[in-house]
Amino acid sequence: MSENQKKTIFSGVQPSGKLTLGNYLGAIRNFPLLQEDYNCIYCVVDMHAITVRQEPAALRRATLEVLAQYIACGLDPDKSVLFIQSHVPAHAELAWVLNCFTMFGEASRMTQFKDKSAKHADNINVGLFTYPVLMAADILLYQTDLVPVGVDQSQHIEICRDIANRFNGRFPDTFTMPEGYYPKAGEGAKITSLADPASKMSKSDPNPNGYILLMDKPEDIMRKFKRAVTDSDTRIAMDPQNKPGVSNLIQIYALATGKTVAAVEDEFAGKGYGAFKPAAGEAVVELLRPIREKTEDLLRNKDYLEQVYQQGAQKASYLARRTLDKVYRKVGFVGR
Ligand code: TYM
Repeated sequence: MSENQKKTIFSGVQPSGKLTLGNYLGAIRNFPLLQEDYNCIYCVVDMHAITVRQEPAALRRATLEVLAQYIACGLDPDKSVLFIQSHVPAHAELAWVLNCFTMFGEASRMTQFKDKSAKHADNINVGLFTYPVLMAADILLYQTDLVPVGVDQSQHIEICRDIANRFNGRFPDTFTMPEGYYPKAGEGAKITSLADPASKMSKSDPNPNGYILLMDKPEDIMRKFKRAVTDSDTRIAMDPQNKPGVSNLIQIYALATGKTVAAVEDEFAGKGYGAFKPAAGEAVVELLRPIREKTEDLLRNKDYLEQVYQQGAQKASYLARRTLDKVYRKVGFVGR
């Protein structure tokens, strides 16, 4: 298939702290699988990250770390466009135009905005409010067909489609209508906290036992799995309603080993949590080991990372500019 016939994929990850197993299983794991059949564009969204306060040196470090992790997880900079959001000013420029096509009411309904404003009551900034509009700009700039993300992003994908529809209604044929591309239920769409199976695994969880970081040491991973919350019944069975903790662990173990859920249930029939939890921990240690080692290697080679993000920014800028020029012309701005 020629480059032009391939569909376009866009996704992004925030460099706000460290990446979790949830980020990996819900999204990043799937990125390299798509790069043969699609035009893939993957971004480190540093502009989204500053909607909550970041320590500048830590943000710089985390941005390079996410880029290194993209590559460590299998992305090839010669096949996919890998870049840093703030290097392509068209994102901020399109976001402004789209702000004028987004209703206050619809932005107010976003659950992430409500959650984050509750968590950061001392810093409910306007950027947090217009966060989904910048995300819509990310996606629409590249005439994206599919957006691989975890289900926690589905509301943001929906508002992006609403904004695109409104804009296309006024100015036909401007944006491709994107669709969310989610893992199937039980295949990473939502990884929950090891300490509280009712909430998603997240790096902003105040309890570090709830999340596994891609860069965690093996002994930390083992400790967190051994402590994982399960239930008083000892059966290893997939039952998300009644046994959410164990079901989350089964999902993780199955994804880490490539086994089916039924095979996992068979393997641990009659064995109990004492056998299962360390086995899940070991599987995750082995899954993450090569990613951690490759990331560490790449972070020692800053020149290479710089070459990757510069080349990525150049390719992304070219593509983004085409859409932005079209948008500016359509809304009536005088061309430079
Ligand atoms: P972020 O940085 O919070 O998460 C990155 C990706 O990881 C997925 N994810 C999960 N999947 C399953 N289980 C979990 N516990 C879990 N936690 C996180 C997220 O769904 C996401 O796919 N707003 C986005 C970043 C973004 C973006 C974009 C994404 C900005 N612009 C354009 C796609 C397209 C975010 O905060 O992801």
